[in-house]
Amino acid sequence: MNDAIPADLLMHARSAKGFMPEDEGDLLYRVARDRLRFGPALEVGTYCGRSGIYLGAAAREVSEASGDLAVAFTVDHHRGSEENQSGWEHHDASLVDDEFGRMDTLPVFRRTIARAGLEDHVIAVVGRSTTVAAHWRTPLSLLFIDGGHGEQPARDDFLGWSRWVAAGGYLAIHDVFPDPADGGRPPYEQIYLPALASGQFTEVDAVGSMRVLARTSGSAGDPVA
Ligand SMILES: C[S@@+](CC[C@H](N)C(=O)[O-])C[C@H]1O[C@@H](n2cnc3c(N)ncnc32)[C@H](O)[C@@H]1O
Repeated sequence: MNDAIPADLLMHARSAKGFMPEDEGDLLYRVARDRLRFGPALEVGTYCGRSGIYLGAAAREVSEASGDLAVAFTVDHHRGSEENQSGWEHHDASLVDDEFGRMDTLPVFRRTIARAGLEDHVIAVVGRSTTVAAHWRTPLSLLFIDGGHGEQPARDDFLGWSRWVAAGGYLAIHDVFPDPADGGRPPYEQIYLPALASGQFTEVDAVGSMRVLARTSGSAGDPVA
């Protein structure tokens, strides 16, 4: 079995706008490939679809092997995080919708996933993470949190989504930096540490700033706190 996504999809991941290094994306691909036969995955933080290609690569492979359609949902309001707004470090002026003067990454995401041939496998859910989470009821084989990186958005994503990880399912978290010299703290302090402190998650893998935890107690729908 390959440790990395197939070459045809790597080409698409490389040309997509995004913040996912290849080695971390390949870890996401491997854990998604392990888990997707048990149910859908969900990503918080779509942006332009680069990480979606890694999830879609796994879904395509699991579907071909099983004959059942494997899918990853991906949630984003497509208006960008704080750090994507004008004047901030990760702003990309080409992503601003002229009519509204606001970011809109949805059209770019659609093109990214269509070009990669993954539209059957990567399903956009457009809206605020907290709103979608409040109505979500489906157990997840894999939850990948890479949404807003401020304290409140990270905390909201942890509280709203981690409960939907199925027993034995995985919680992957991006931009986990135990050392403040390496990057912002909220994914570490508001998601990673509380998940471990809950006693319901155990770390199983890590590459770069990506951490993967398995749900080792509790089941989908049980609060995690
Ligand atoms: C770091 S980017 C995601 C990068 C993407 N996972 C990748 O690797 O290509 C974070 C995304 O989260 C979205 N986001 C931030 N806060 C959100 C919220 N409260 N609800 C929905 N989406 C949100 C932003 O719009 C942005 O596109």
